[in-house]
Amino acid sequence: MFDRPGAGSRAVLVHMPLAGPDQEDLDELRLLALSAGAEPVATVSGRLRAIDPRYYIGQGKLEELAETVKAYEAELVLFNHALTPSQERNLEKALDVRVVDRNGLILDIFAQRARSFEGRLQVELAQLKHLATRLVRGWTHLERQKGGIGLRGPGETQLETDKRLLANRIRQIQKRLQQVEVQRNQGRQARRRAQVPVVGLVGYTNAGKSTLFNALTQADVYSADQLFATLDPTLRRLTRGGLNMVLADTVGFIRHLPHELVAAFRSTLQESAEADLLLHVIDANDQRMDETIAEVRQVLAEIGADRIPCIEVYNKIDRLDGVAPHIERDQSGRPVRIWISARSGSGLELLKELLEEILGGGVERRTLALSAEQGELRARLYREARVLSEAPDGEGGWRMCVEFPATARGLRCAIGDDPAHGEGGDWTAKRAGASH
Ligand code: GTP
Repeated sequence: MFDRPGAGSRAVLVHMPLAGPDQEDLDELRLLALSAGAEPVATVSGRLRAIDPRYYIGQGKLEELAETVKAYEAELVLFNHALTPSQERNLEKALDVRVVDRNGLILDIFAQRARSFEGRLQVELAQLKHLATRLVRGWTHLERQKGGIGLRGPGETQLETDKRLLANRIRQIQKRLQQVEVQRNQGRQARRRAQVPVVGLVGYTNAGKSTLFNALTQADVYSADQLFATLDPTLRRLTRGGLNMVLADTVGFIRHLPHELVAAFRSTLQESAEADLLLHVIDANDQRMDETIAEVRQVLAEIGADRIPCIEVYNKIDRLDGVAPHIERDQSGRPVRIWISARSGSGLELLKELLEEILGGGVERRTLALSAEQGELRARLYREARVLSEAPDGEGGWRMCVEFPATARGLRCAIGDDPAHGEGGDWTAKRAGASH
């Protein structure tokens, strides 16, 4: 549905933050532009004292921008900021080239990267919502530049239609997304029933998740030195010794994600939110490492994944001097960090051993007593564990014999037994007694 970009459009980058702490950074915009298939040819930068309501930038800067566009024969201007629809329109009229703001650019990249049916629907939905506010814009003066950044996807034809059609399409997509989600949940439940642990790869964009995913599973997943090489969670089976697991690759995190994309992004992370173990991949060469680590942790907390055991994988050690692959453990011997190079392959064996150590605990069988009010938990046990037998206790409750995979940490937390933080002793549902 979405075209790949042709030869790179020559783009002028505009980086004009308001005075004060810098929110976005120019290097990131350059990478975003390259990711979208544009060719940055010049940069206009400076500090704004106030945002001009008509053009975002002031008159002087606008003239400088117009001259730069002409001098470099640029076809596109990329703003590192969010523009209002009318600012975008005014700028396009004044410059006579297409103007795309940061949000439009990120949407475009997502449109190119979405691989699964669900991911494509989510991006289309986000694009339609983004375009809905820009329906009034005068596209005709730019019509000769068909396709390309900001014009890809559903917008091109939909823009000529009215808002009612757009709203219908949005409703249609939302409905299909609901259906797809049901199917995905069924897949997840089937994996749970089969007791296959899921390992989620998360991390800031460009950290090397896809490379690690490929290296571990030898799968052919698209990977490039660009942002967002992955949008949809991609699942692959990984076998180690007698242990089967599923590896889930997810979209790279990015700072200040456009509002329209937050929902789409979250749902692609759902697989990680329910993983048994997370591998947080970190570029060990990243100069803003602390910042990006904090950013990733914050998103994990927002999607409720901060309770899942997490190992930090410091990647790209081939670029560091004198760092050999190794595991770091906390005082109690629990692994917390591993240093590897996904590209050169050094440390991969160590990582596989670590996965086996963490996930290879086998199946545990317990007897639980649930009270009458714990029907919901009982239903969850049926969904996520294997119930071997069950008998009513005569008081409206149940006595159950249940088999848990060693990795069913979410479920163990629900029962009141958190193996990530405790010694994992008594499998007692909070309000019930249990015997082994
Ligand atoms: P997104 O999909 O954008 O989130 O990126 P990602 O985290 O999946 O990163 P990806 O695997 O696409 O790798 C990004 C770049 O880093 C690519 O150019 C990789 O070749 C490079 N890379 C990955 N691992 C290593 C490594 O161990 N060493 C070096 N030097 N480069 C690496």
